[in-house]
Amino acid sequence: MRAVVPGSFDPITNGHIDVIRRAAAIFDEVVVAVGANSSKRYLFEPDERLELVRAATADIAGVSAEPLSGLLVDFCRAQGAEAIVKGARGAVDFDFEVGMARMNSSLTGVETVILPAAAQWSFVSSTLVREVATLGGDATPYVPAVVAERLATRRAHE
Ligand code: PNS
Repeated sequence: MRAVVPGSFDPITNGHIDVIRRAAAIFDEVVVAVGANSSKRYLFEPDERLELVRAATADIAGVSAEPLSGLLVDFCRAQGAEAIVKGARGAVDFDFEVGMARMNSSLTGVETVILPAAAQWSFVSSTLVREVATLGGDATPYVPAVVAERLATRRAHE
């Protein structure tokens, strides 16, 4: 069975990697869908977010990454995926995810599996990683090495 792990991944964090690894342990194949939430502003361009997701997940068997534009349910259908996997750090994430899961289920019947974020990463979000990194802090503990390097390069060029 194939599952889709969608997100904007700006940038991908260790919390995302944990969810993707756990999804890959449950499903035969996992396609990471790198999309954009129209209400957010992004640090990295779509191509760079996709490139970083591919680099950070290259060692996880059965995982690939593709760009997402348009509706997630259409992407799932095109990929032949029957399930969506999302991580939730707490009640706020969970409530938000339940709303999207019900809409996606209503649209095409695709199911959503919500995994509780590992306690170790429950305080880590792309938003906080961006804030720490852009204000001069060290985000290395919270992101894959390839992302930490990219954040450092960006700072060096600012
Ligand atoms: O990392 P994010 O910001 O939580 O990712 C959000 C994303 C890209 C997964 C979400 O905005 C999404 O699914 N976008 C695709 C458009 C869509 O299907 N919208 C309706 C969702 S019910």
